[in-house]
Amino acid sequence: MEEKVLKLLEEAKMALQAAKSLRELDDLRVRYLGKKGEVTALLKGLGNLPPEERPAAGNAVNRARKEIEGLLNSRKILVQEEERSLKVLSETLDISLPGVRRERGHRHPVTQVMEEILDVFAGLGFSVRVGPEVEKDYYNFEALNFPKDHPARDMQDTFFIREDVVLRTHTSPVQVRTMESEEPPLRIVSPGKVYRHDYDVSHSPMFHQVEGFMVDEGVAFSDLKGVLEEFVHQFFGPKVPVRFRASFFPFTEPSAEVDMGCSMCLGKGCRVCKDSGWIEILGSGMIHPEVLRYVGYNSEKFSGFAFGMGMERIAMLRYGIDDIRLLYEGDMRFLEQF
Ligand code: PHE
Repeated sequence: MEEKVLKLLEEAKMALQAAKSLRELDDLRVRYLGKKGEVTALLKGLGNLPPEERPAAGNAVNRARKEIEGLLNSRKILVQEEERSLKVLSETLDISLPGVRRERGHRHPVTQVMEEILDVFAGLGFSVRVGPEVEKDYYNFEALNFPKDHPARDMQDTFFIREDVVLRTHTSPVQVRTMESEEPPLRIVSPGKVYRHDYDVSHSPMFHQVEGFMVDEGVAFSDLKGVLEEFVHQFFGPKVPVRFRASFFPFTEPSAEVDMGCSMCLGKGCRVCKDSGWIEILGSGMIHPEVLRYVGYNSEKFSGFAFGMGMERIAMLRYGIDDIRLLYEGDMRFLEQF
């Protein structure tokens, strides 16, 4: 019996010395001193010994138990200390390490350009209205004087939701909606998304336009010229030349496309302006009397001008971007530059 006790004690001492964490120490306590532990088992076994051997064996087991207890306690203090200093070491703060910079978001270049444009027109007394992107054929075409067989109504260009409902192909329907519910004098700009069945380096199936129009008594083509020249000069620079070229839209008469001097080559001729020195930036004209009649205005009394321009195109010219798709790929390396 005594031999057995000594062997167990040796084994327990080695295990305790080797233990490196409080958990391991606790496992050992359970293993030797717990209710079902090995020392406890020896104590229980004393009853099986002949009575004369019991006192000596009992003493030996008790001494072994005391020794294991003592060792457990002293190891516990040491291991605790070790664990603490390891923790302190791992938590060392090196204040000379470089910091981690947080990325800050910013507005998309198209949004920036849009807000700048609205700003210029706000300065000229224009206020903002918006309309729906899913639009009735009536507002997108009919009330804008598009004949039933006009090519723009073709499936080739227009996304149809139903026979009489489309994704608006331009922001001009906001002219009709606004004039239907408000009376002149009006000076309105209307930004928003528009949709056309088109996709290449300079066309995207979704893009943004800003519509503008003014209606009052005696509004003339010279007002249109004055406002748009002022816009180009404020937005692109006071020396940029502007020219008006006769054109056609069903909802304006007369109609004009507006060109500005090419900002890439400053009028010398380059790939972007196809060597002409001019770049088209918007469509415009005097609101067609037929449109005024559709909204119930007296076209003898009131007249107005309207214009519409593509935001992406303006952003591309402003920043020298040559592929519209770059604006929609969400590539941070590209977007971060603006
Ligand atoms: N809505 C026309 C387009 O998208 C632009 C335009 C607007 C032309 C207003 C004249 C007047 O091409």
